[in-house]
Amino acid sequence: MAKRTIKESALQEKFDELERKNQEALTGGGEKRIEQQHAKGKLTARERIHLLLDEGSFEELGKFVMHRSKDFGLDKEYYLGDGVVTGYGTVNGRLVYVFSQDFTVFGGSLSETHAEKIVKIMDLAMKNGAPVIGLNDSGGARIQEGVVSLGGYADIFYRNTLASGVIPQISAIMGPCAGGAVYSPAITDFILMVENTSFMFVTGPNVVKTVTHENVTAEELGGAQTHSSKSGVTHFACANEVECITYLKRLLSYIPQNCEDEAPRLPYTMGNEKRAVLNDIIPANPNQPYDMREVINGVVDDGSFFEVHKNFAENIVVGFARIAGRSIGIVGNQPASLAGVLDINSSVKGARFVRFCDCFNIPLLVFEDVPGFLPGTDQEWHGIITNGAKLLFAFSEATVPRVTVITRKAYGGAYDVMNSKHIGADLNYAWPTAEIAVMGAKGASEIIFRKEISEAADPEAKLAEKVEEYTHKFANPYRAAHRGYIDEVIYPDETREKLIRAFAMLENKVAQLPKKKHGNIPL
Ligand code: HXC
Repeated sequence: MAKRTIKESALQEKFDELERKNQEALTGGGEKRIEQQHAKGKLTARERIHLLLDEGSFEELGKFVMHRSKDFGLDKEYYLGDGVVTGYGTVNGRLVYVFSQDFTVFGGSLSETHAEKIVKIMDLAMKNGAPVIGLNDSGGARIQEGVVSLGGYADIFYRNTLASGVIPQISAIMGPCAGGAVYSPAITDFILMVENTSFMFVTGPNVVKTVTHENVTAEELGGAQTHSSKSGVTHFACANEVECITYLKRLLSYIPQNCEDEAPRLPYTMGNEKRAVLNDIIPANPNQPYDMREVINGVVDDGSFFEVHKNFAENIVVGFARIAGRSIGIVGNQPASLAGVLDINSSVKGARFVRFCDCFNIPLLVFEDVPGFLPGTDQEWHGIITNGAKLLFAFSEATVPRVTVITRKAYGGAYDVMNSKHIGADLNYAWPTAEIAVMGAKGASEIIFRKEISEAADPEAKLAEKVEEYTHKFANPYRAAHRGYIDEVIYPDETREKLIRAFAMLENKVAQLPKKKHGNIPL
């Protein structure tokens, strides 16, 4: 930047000051500010962008923007960029828009102008059809600015909502994210958090103590572990910021740029696609658990399974993978956790993932082994009816290619919900070990043969006989296959090959929902 010659003028002083601040901003906030940030175990806003984007690809926008506030001493304190670095660049050659909040400037708090910078890149992202990535590290609304900062948040929330389903939006929480500020990440598609240095809550520990008299630390209340396992607010809990950015980049590799685009595909040549390892996963005893991840990893391209929401509602497994190089979304019941039963949390987790995949043209592959919905007052009183319906609704309205493989149990309403043909799945396969019935053989026998059993000389022997009869009749995939509800009964080792062909066949699928403004998913 060229220097002015009128040394003594106040204008020149101000100009020099701004230039110095700009240099600080360009280098990450000045040595002191960098040190402060590093001392907290955090990277600076610019270091994070540097890690995220391809080398030399970042184009910064709005780096001379300053706040307009005059209250509470802000007329004496200006930083170029106003606490957020915004712009665009590429990740593995693909365009993304990014904003990265700088906690070293007014605690990364959101002012009117800070918000305007974020809004600007969101608008560009919408017009140009590319993801928006938010690297959040902020004390919330800039307190000195009052309502204009609240308005700034609302401008962002509104755009988050309009952009939902049009372009992918990803939020990495790398410091505080408190108060109403949490609602922007909450509307985005995925949230990543960093353990020990980030937290999210609507009201902090002090307010909690005043209102509910609970003693809780920020980490316990809203840290990465809490939100990845208890609330499900975050999809990824990362050990540190480098891992967080690595996950973020991997996530991007499975998803398209916008709702009219296809996810990137890797080249693939068919070879021997038999996977003998799949033959030995289902235990001989139908009540014995196994890890559905073994099935998933055995079927998809080597090492391609990328699990999402891993620590939350572990009775369902969701994530991205590739099959013959093509990106797919996977939903699998998890017999290793609560026997794979569907409950409130797993239904909501599954539904959200299904809807993301459907928004962004990612085909769905479902692995089913589900004994039904979880009984009990806790589930009923907290709304398993409404929440279970979310998963049913999400599958039913999905128009992407949809394939199901029933590995073992497909019982009751859960059979319908888990991407059955009746609700629009394109192809349903079953392994010979599949049991497709209204309920388990014992429960069923106890109900329908109650009188016969109670009147028998040896009720236990009678029950065993009836269980055997019911099992023989229903605990197999053939009744459903006779009806065409199952397209083919396949051996586990041929599953991968069948699925490669199935997804290739479904590649140009066109399905449309009836004309409507939007559906009314049971929220
Ligand atoms: C202005 C802020 C600020 C804010 C922090 N700072 N938050 N300035 N507005 N919201 C400033 C501090 O004054 C301080 O300035 C510097 O940032 C660093 O803050 P520290 O408190 O020293 O840092 P730390 O100890 O790490 O604590 C971080 C923190 C704490 C937990 C985030 O700062 C905090 O509680 N801030 C307030 C959070 C809050 O209540 N925000 C409003 C939420 S309501 P100096 O000059 O001393 O270095 C909200 C409404 C949004 O956001 C509604 C949308 C609908």
